[in-house]
Amino acid sequence: MKIKSSEFVISAAGESQFPVDGLPEVALAGRSNVGKSSLINKMLLRRNLARTSAQPGKTQTLNYYLINGELYFVDFPGYGYAKVSKSQREAWGKLAERYLRDRKPLKLVLQLVDLRHPPSADDRNMYAWLSHYGIPMCVVATKADKISRNQIPKHAKIVRQTLGMPGHVPLIVFSSETGQGREELWSLIEQAVEI
Ligand code: GTP
Ligand code: MG
Repeated sequence: MKIKSSEFVISAAGESQFPVDGLPEVALAGRSNVGKSSLINKMLLRRNLARTSAQPGKTQTLNYYLINGELYFVDFPGYGYAKVSKSQREAWGKLAERYLRDRKPLKLVLQLVDLRHPPSADDRNMYAWLSHYGIPMCVVATKADKISRNQIPKHAKIVRQTLGMPGHVPLIVFSSETGQGREELWSLIEQAVEI
């Protein structure tokens, strides 16, 4: 995928703010701090388009980024951050759930997990939920640069086993530092959005 343009479009707090142009959408879900915003920046070769933060749990809206005027990345707030209040968590759940279940232009969900650790209970719930609704998805295991190369297959296997991923669901090992997995992920996205 050749990136000709990329821009931030809107921080949507509710359905009424979602784009109405019908362009395909790729959503990113994952624990707070797992590397969603960093992945977007790496995919778009932008240093700081999607805001990365050392303050987990900050983003509470769905952030839309338009790529080449032909598809959107939708950056989700991170789940599973303990310091977020219960009512905030519930509001997040409702918006996210409705989006994931009913959003027509949604073509693919990237579920991000940290390659270094076995997926958490929240990760397992999210995965099970996406599978249950038959939402097209792929798992992206982030921060691959933080473990040694020869340990990667072992960690990838633990991710697959812990989530209970069948063989046909793709797992991409990724690093926003080195760009590992970037091309592979773009091929998958291009296939899913059919551009
Ligand atoms: P929320 O917006 O809070 O949900 O977090 P996020 O999932 O968007 O995570 P973000 O991209 O902000 O990254 C969190 C921290 O992890 C930052 O300090 C990043 O620099 C770091 N990080 C993200 N991806 C990688 C990676 O692939 N390798 C390394 N070494 N660090 C990473
Ligand atoms: Mg973020």
